[in-house]
Parts: sequence; C-alpha cells; structure tokens
Amino acid sequence: MHNNQPIGIFDSGIGGTSIWSAINELLPYEKTIYLADSKNAPYGQKSKAEIIALSIKNTELLLDLNCKIIVVACNTATTNAIRELRAKYTIPFIGIEPAIKPAAIHSKTHTIGILATQGTLNSALFNKTTEMFHDTKIMEQVGHGLVQLIESGDINSPEMTRLLNSYLNPMIEANIDYLVLGCSHYPYLIPQIKKILPKNIQIIDSGQAVAKQTQNILREKVGFSSNNNNKSESLFYTNTNPKVLTEILENKYNVIEKDF
Ligand code: DGL
Repeated sequence: MHNNQPIGIFDSGIGGTSIWSAINELLPYEKTIYLADSKNAPYGQKSKAEIIALSIKNTELLLDLNCKIIVVACNTATTNAIRELRAKYTIPFIGIEPAIKPAAIHSKTHTIGILATQGTLNSALFNKTTEMFHDTKIMEQVGHGLVQLIESGDINSPEMTRLLNSYLNPMIEANIDYLVLGCSHYPYLIPQIKKILPKNIQIIDSGQAVAKQTQNILREKVGFSSNNNNKSESLFYTNTNPKVLTEILENKYNVIEKDF
C-alpha cells in the first residue's frame, strides 16, 4: 500500500525552507507543500495562545490541501503548540526542537550556546530538555531582530553582522564549543556566523534530524510512503509578497501568493 498525498510543512515564514530542503533531499519522491506564514512573522514574540491559533490555521489549510502528514518546521510553533495540535488532530505531526542533546553530549568544554527565539527559550518543552543536562552550561541568547532581517531579505546587511557579533561574542568568551541554531530561519546565517566563530566551535541545526524522523514515520505507518518513481512536485504558498521566498529558493520554484 502506498500514499501519494503530499507532506505538509509550515513555518512562520521563509526559514522553514531549510527544513524543506533537507526533507526534499532525503525523500525526493515525496510531494511537498510548504506554507510560509510571513504575514504573521515573527512568531517568536507572540503569546503561546497566539502561536497555537496560528498553528491551527496553518494545519487547517494543509489538511484542505490533502496532506498526509505535517512537519512543523518552526521551533517556536513546535515548542509552544505541537502538544495541542497532536491532541486536536489524528494526522501525524513532526516537530523541530533545538538540538541541545547532541551538543551537550559531545561538548568538551561543557559549555554550549543556543540562539533561538524568545518563544522557544521560554517554552516549557525547551526548559524540560535543558534540565536533563545540568552538567552543561547552556548560554541562551534570544536572536532579537534576526528573523525580521531574514524575512526582509537583509541576510547580508551590516545590521545582521552587528547583531550576530553582539550575540555570539559573549559565547566565544565563555568558551562554548557548540552553537545550537534553535530557529529554522538561522541556517541561512551560517556563512556569516562562520566568519565570527573560531573554527573549533561546531554549529548544529536540526534539519537533517527532522528529515530522518519524517522518513521513519512514513516507513513506520504502513501505507504512508509514496510510490512515485520520478522526482516529485514541491508547492510553495506565502501570504505576503513572494519575492524573498522565491529568492531563497534560488528562483527555481514558482511561489503561489494566497491569503491564509
Ligand atoms: N522559524 C521559526 C523558528 O524556528 C520562528 C521564527 C519566528 O517567527 O520568530 O523558531
């Protein structure tokens, strides 16, 4: 038995395309539908209730578009709303959480840094995870302003360099050896981050882990994988001007503008 319905993916904006890329690379025969809720970005400073309401809105559209499984490609939405989504719907949900565990396990300096949104760092789910690693010093930093700059296409701006320096320099001084990127927008900043961090500091994000987990869930649930033999279609929807999303996809995909 097979299922050729699409995998639905949503984020507060364009950042979750970093997760979509990992999924599309690992599962090229699966059709995907990506929703960029850029009109409501950033989610990071919103209340838990607002994040849940937006996550439900995105889920409803992906269900209308006939998705068989939903990937919440947003740390903020996962850490604040995935429990509620799983309680409300029967469709499987896959979430993304900051990769604290591998960083804490491998750290030799027992000091790691995490850059994430306020919503993620304040969430009960994130705090439950960090409690498990009390032998590791975890330097938490809210990436104020980073998502807004990425959403407006200003990844390489002097303001971005200034903000990243101010967030990362204290971590370098504290001798971190791992930096966890706890927001799906931040992998797009890796080239700039590498210019700031000394070479011995490893950068970790969760994209590949989420893609692997998606593959596992599709395999475990009998009849969930596609039996397409050709590379499958990827559809992208945004509720703002499609320019920045189109550019981040290197102009390879046609982005559909839709009110949602
Ligand atoms: N990309 C999202 C995340 O992974 C949210 C960023 C935001 O909207 O604040 O947390």
